[in-house]
Amino acid sequence: MDPSISIKDLHLSFGAVEVINALNLDVGQGEFLVLLGSSGCGKSTLLNCIAGLLDVSDGQIFIQGNNVTWEEPSRRGIGMVFQSYALYPQMTVEGNLSFGLKNAGFSKTEVAERVAKAARILQIEPLLKRKPAALSGGQRQRVAIGRALVRDVDVFLFDEPLSNLDAKLRTDLRAEIKELHQTLRNTMIYVTHDQIEAMTLADRIAIMRGGQILQLASPKEIYNRPNCKYVADFIGSPSMNFLAGALSTEADGTVRFTCPSGVFSLDGYAFDAPVRGGEGWLGIRPEHIASGAEAASRAIQLDATVRLVEPLGSDTLVRVMVADQSFWVRMDGRTEVREGDPLPIGFNPGRCNVFDKTTEARL
Ligand SMILES: Nc1ncnc2c1ncn2[C@@H]1O[C@H](COP(=O)(O)OP(=O)(O)O)[C@@H](O)[C@H]1O
Ligand SMILES: [Mg+2]
Repeated sequence: MDPSISIKDLHLSFGAVEVINALNLDVGQGEFLVLLGSSGCGKSTLLNCIAGLLDVSDGQIFIQGNNVTWEEPSRRGIGMVFQSYALYPQMTVEGNLSFGLKNAGFSKTEVAERVAKAARILQIEPLLKRKPAALSGGQRQRVAIGRALVRDVDVFLFDEPLSNLDAKLRTDLRAEIKELHQTLRNTMIYVTHDQIEAMTLADRIAIMRGGQILQLASPKEIYNRPNCKYVADFIGSPSMNFLAGALSTEADGTVRFTCPSGVFSLDGYAFDAPVRGGEGWLGIRPEHIASGAEAASRAIQLDATVRLVEPLGSDTLVRVMVADQSFWVRMDGRTEVREGDPLPIGFNPGRCNVFDKTTEARL
């Protein structure tokens, strides 16, 4: 089957500044794709190119097989939802939902049917006669989603739709958007800087940096097998811990990692390709580190000292020092540790991620 959206060699510059640089991306039919990256990496710019709100400098965009690179936004078969809601303040919810349809020349009956259906799906039927000022943030964002929904489009584009909401509401609406996708099964591209939103919503995540996609993969793959140190560091909170050291291969094929804290065999780590040696990063996530008595059963063991304890209820985050290196460890919430305590920590090579020191690519 053809991809729902296909982006070929896209370039976009603002004046002399290149914001999107030779970007290629295929989004499958009905796929939920999340564009994730830190602020300013070009997520909104890419989405706006797809929507037709920005003229591209070079390259092509296809939606449902049609080359829409120079097509008007209204003729691309997309519905867009913004962080700012962008509702008409003087119109009721019903007016906001029906405005675009009336302009597009739909019959009164058709407009009424579509508005009623969207209102039912989004559970905003009781709000139809209200104006946006009389709605909560979450209700306004539902109306904004409704405005895309009534247009019955193939593709939904979301630009940080939940960023203006408080934490509880964000979690609720996030689940609603996921359910909406399960119901509608249309293609969705969703921009966020929030890794939890990305992990929970996406079929695939595209991690962006400097106008390029660094890795495009399922949330599990991105978490377990980040293809570079930047992605490894970006996903996960607290971030992955890194030790700098030297890699060397023994005659029997065993790869050793030598760092100021010791010399460790990396037996059990599946290298992408045979390593010859050189400088590298050994990365381990806070949740994959054992501590206390349990550390003794791990292949790599380090002596640490507790520096900071952050109880979260379910878990406790503990920052420890190994020599002069700081490490985050995620421990069970019932653990009793105090600042200054000695704490042995340990982990297995199979849980590690190894990156080249210079290229920062996964090894
Ligand atoms: N209209 C514009 N003119 C000049 N530079 C822009 C314009 N819009 C965005 N940029 C720049 O392009 C880069 C990417 O912006 P944007 O796509 O909004 O990032 P994101 O959505 O990932 O936070 C930023 O460095 C931003 O300053
Ligand atoms: Mg943005």
